[in-house]
Amino acid sequence: MKRIAVLTSGGDSPGMNAAVRAVVRKGIHEGLEVFGIYQGYAGLMSNQIKKLELGSVGDIIHRGGTILYTARSEEFKKDEAQYQAIKNLRDLQIDGLVVIGGDGSYRGAAKLTEKGFPCIGLPGTIDNDIPGTDYTIGFDTALNTIVDSIDKIRDTATSHDRTFIIEVMGRHAGDLALYSGLSVGAETILIPERKFELAEVVEKLNKGIERGKKHSIIVLAEGVCSANEFAATLKENYSLETRITVLGHIQRGGSPTGFDRVLASRLGARAVELLLEGKAGKAVGMQKQQIVEHNFQDILKEKDPLPEGVYTLSQQLSI
Ligand code: ADP
Ligand code: F6P
Repeated sequence: MKRIAVLTSGGDSPGMNAAVRAVVRKGIHEGLEVFGIYQGYAGLMSNQIKKLELGSVGDIIHRGGTILYTARSEEFKKDEAQYQAIKNLRDLQIDGLVVIGGDGSYRGAAKLTEKGFPCIGLPGTIDNDIPGTDYTIGFDTALNTIVDSIDKIRDTATSHDRTFIIEVMGRHAGDLALYSGLSVGAETILIPERKFELAEVVEKLNKGIERGKKHSIIVLAEGVCSANEFAATLKENYSLETRITVLGHIQRGGSPTGFDRVLASRLGARAVELLLEGKAGKAVGMQKQQIVEHNFQDILKEKDPLPEGVYTLSQQLSI
């Protein structure tokens, strides 16, 4: 293997740049030529491919977003599009590809590998919803952005004796809501992985108010419902007045934390090693501080488990 390529795909996440940098620098360190594919799979189909040098990835380790840009492409789900992508890579004598993205991006990489083109996946998503890794690249930064925002909301919530509903991202996963809720001492954390009774949520809020709590924070994962819907339900059924904040895409931006930079650097370097070892169809992750790899097929059929101990603790501490 003499030439490899790297792309970012799906929703961006802070630390993707650090991962791109690690792939490029480790690749060059190992004597490879490394190419960047712009705009994810869409750019792969339309040949937006450029050779990257050491300097191409200078001054990016601290930047959010992705210098390679990213995209979502329905077209790429078709077999013909995948064969075209492989042809474009082969025409440039590229023999291996590192895909940085979420589970959708892994599905694309698995398809290319099945069709004979070796791919390695790195978990780039704020959602922390990829099995086979304790953390995904970007989760820690997004978590800290949420915590910082809720700390601010808490100031005004206390001044006004208010109940706030904060809607956080995560798609179908509750990790961002769970970890941020625990971090800010939220009164209530609502996640799609756990059922809840509205009456119990309200009872708990009322008990807190009776005990003299000056504010209540409800952290709501977007996978449960929207903050708007939840606020309307509380008002309609319990005449409970709330304020809502939808944090939105602010959660996806910003300079990656040290944790995300280290994670991205370690995973990126390992991806290159795997390609050099002739391995393909692997998703790289970190479990118990060790860098590990799993087959795409295994990762894609599993469901990422919720850290049960963290959930139980959040319930015990938010009385
Ligand atoms: P993420 O990678 O963050 O989960 P998406 O689910 O949007 O984001 O997936 C990113 C891209 O991966 C999609 O736009 C599509 O191009 C590709 N992809 C997703 N699912 C498949 C699939 N089943 N087969 C081929 N490509 C896929
Ligand atoms: O997967 C990352 C994520 O930010 C999810 O948390 C969220 O549901 C989704 O992407 C938003 O996607 P878009 O940026 O396309 O609105």
